[in-house]
Amino acid sequence: MSAVFDLRNSKVQTLSLTDEGCRMLDQTRLPETVDYLLVKTASEMARAISDMIVRGAPAIGIAGAYGVVLSVRETLKTKPDLATLKQQVKADAEMLRGTRPTAVNLAWALDQLIALINQADSTEALLQEVTQKARQIHEEDLAACIRMGNYGAELVPKGAGIITHCNAGGLATAGYGTALGVIRSAFAKDGTIRVYADETRPRLQGARLTTWELLQDNIPVTLITDGMSGLLMKSGKVDLVVTGADRIAANGDSANKIGTYNLAIVARAHNIPFYIAAPLSSIDLSIKTGDDIPIEERDPDEIAKIGSEQICPKGTQFYNPAFDVTPAEYIAGIITEKGIARPPYNESLKKLFG
Ligand code: MRU
Repeated sequence: MSAVFDLRNSKVQTLSLTDEGCRMLDQTRLPETVDYLLVKTASEMARAISDMIVRGAPAIGIAGAYGVVLSVRETLKTKPDLATLKQQVKADAEMLRGTRPTAVNLAWALDQLIALINQADSTEALLQEVTQKARQIHEEDLAACIRMGNYGAELVPKGAGIITHCNAGGLATAGYGTALGVIRSAFAKDGTIRVYADETRPRLQGARLTTWELLQDNIPVTLITDGMSGLLMKSGKVDLVVTGADRIAANGDSANKIGTYNLAIVARAHNIPFYIAAPLSSIDLSIKTGDDIPIEERDPDEIAKIGSEQICPKGTQFYNPAFDVTPAEYIAGIITEKGIARPPYNESLKKLFG
């Protein structure tokens, strides 16, 4: 049975564009509180992205695109001429681009909108075209996730144990997920699969978001801390690992949430296949290897504190990269909406775009 998914019926409504603004699920408050915010301006959207109210590479791309729509709406209130409108909206697009550097989906979405802005020949056409494109990016991401889920499900043996890291689910995308899309589609075929969610220090996307999201869909999930995967693999309970990606270089090196690299190495040590699930919008063929992927560093307080409580002595120094890069040699396959790319990735990824 293949999964049938309708975004309108989903319990996980990550974000949506309305006449009033962009309605966004506040992911910083999950799982205790399910609360929606109405973001009305491009600056509010930039803050929502940097503060991780919305997060996950494809969702950030969609949010950035809606941020541009909000910029057009806001600027039009001042009755600008076409040149002034273009100038202001492009400045807002650059502000949005600067919010989170690792996920290429943000730049990918903004570049498409900037191309439309440059071509627009009236203020009305600019609003209409930018709105249509942003909605299209949203809808196509959902379709891509469902296709990716169905390709990925073919890789999941009956009754398999699966580890996933961070949250690469509906919350991180238009609504079905990349790695969690694979898990959703696999679960639709075989209700005996077992899912292990890595806690994902420091922001706890696995503990707070992946568990919440899977339980919304009645998919059983077991929470582990990041350091437990080795023991779990050694015990024979894990058949594969699948995670999302924020940016994939031309050679297959893949940036994803900090800790993914460790997980891939442990999986290799136990001969367990490690897969990435990501849409083509996360693949950046302009970057040759993972060495060139910019890695976001975040506020040291994310690791210095648990909740509001400081967990280390004064004088401690901090290093808090939000992502790491898993070298292509550890990746058994990259699951996309166009099929599964296998090594050597320089050839197989390029073919997907052909
Ligand atoms: O810092 P985050 O929560 O935005 O990081 C998210 C991830 O690392 C995801 O795994 C990645 O964006 C893929 S989401 C489908």
